[in-house]
Amino acid sequence: MTNIASIAAPSQAGFNVRRIREDFPILRQTVHGKPLVYLDNAATTQKPRAVLDALMAYYSEDNANVHRGVHLLSERATQAFEDARATVQRFINAASAREIVFTRNATEGINLVAQTFGRTRLAPGDEVVISAMEHHSNIVPWQMVCEEKGASLRVIPITDEGALQLEEYERLLGSHTRLVSIVHLSNVLGTINPVQQMIATAHRRGVPVLIDGSQAVHHMTVDVQALDADFYVFTGHKLYGPTGIGVLYGKERLLDEMPPYQGGGDMIRSVTFEKTTYNALPYKFEAGTPNIAGALGLAAAVDYVTGIGMDRISAHERELLAYGTAALSGVPGLTLIGTAAEKSSVLSFVMDGVHPHDIGTVVDQEGVAIRTGHHCAQPLMQRLGIAATARASLALYNTREEIDALVAALHKVRELFT
Ligand code: ALA
Repeated sequence: MTNIASIAAPSQAGFNVRRIREDFPILRQTVHGKPLVYLDNAATTQKPRAVLDALMAYYSEDNANVHRGVHLLSERATQAFEDARATVQRFINAASAREIVFTRNATEGINLVAQTFGRTRLAPGDEVVISAMEHHSNIVPWQMVCEEKGASLRVIPITDEGALQLEEYERLLGSHTRLVSIVHLSNVLGTINPVQQMIATAHRRGVPVLIDGSQAVHHMTVDVQALDADFYVFTGHKLYGPTGIGVLYGKERLLDEMPPYQGGGDMIRSVTFEKTTYNALPYKFEAGTPNIAGALGLAAAVDYVTGIGMDRISAHERELLAYGTAALSGVPGLTLIGTAAEKSSVLSFVMDGVHPHDIGTVVDQEGVAIRTGHHCAQPLMQRLGIAATARASLALYNTREEIDALVAALHKVRELFT
């Protein structure tokens, strides 16, 4: 298969964003007659050629089912699939490939933990601690299992700037807490939560912690062992990989104790009508034919970003966020939502007298793609006292000129609505 790292590596010591943009064919187009300015990266990122090539190469050269055949294609597909798992393991520094479970997305990873760990550990009166800035995918699965088990949710409040209130977090942790489940980087606010410190606080009370890293893994280096996370979930499509592939990391000891999630092929060791015994990790949690091409595409995406260097990507995006924050602050009537000290990659805002959907529609006519709405975080919107925001979100291929294009489009919005 293609050596992705060598394709992706910028040709000079600095971060060469022009060169990087050439790796993303989709960025070359115009929309509504204007050059595409793609600033909806928190919804999904665009895919580099290396990922597209990996998908094409798999389907045109190696396509076969995994873990099932003795024929050569099946062996090649199985090897590539397990190599992809090892690539993900190295990317987040998991201790073992057995701790990497492929899922459809982060949502499925959280549901898996809720329906296995949650269902077996929660009893009436128990509590799961989440935060006020969670995506629906880190609220609803816990509500469902809490309702079934007579347990309840406790919610860490946030400040008006969008930071977690850590003293309140400490107060919420008690003898009934069975799990903490919090987001690493908020999709609405951009807040980076101090998850290492929060995990240590929970562990001092013997409470395990799940981190939703969907918005984090492509913006910063994540080391699950350094964090000491018990579970860490993320999705592939925000990490420049394909849709339909995600990852659940779990400490082997915990995954071993958990019952299977779904039943079917590949997750079994033996089946009779009387009794089924289950496969070893991680296959116990991977029932049915997995998204083989998705896993290979995800591995290509991981190779791509590590080839560039996560530190360089973070530095580029930090600089862009500072530039964007200053530029948007100069737009009359615009208020930034989410101004915590520790932030990355997200610029949410509202404008006096203009509905966010109208902002989105007008800037789209200028070629600028942003997201508007509640961003799957309705309780957070209620806490902030707003119905929706407009949100520009950054990726490694964005430029200052694209921020300028957004700001120019926002001035058009003001002209139209005031
Ligand atoms: N969770 C994704 C977003 O924030 C879809 O847009």
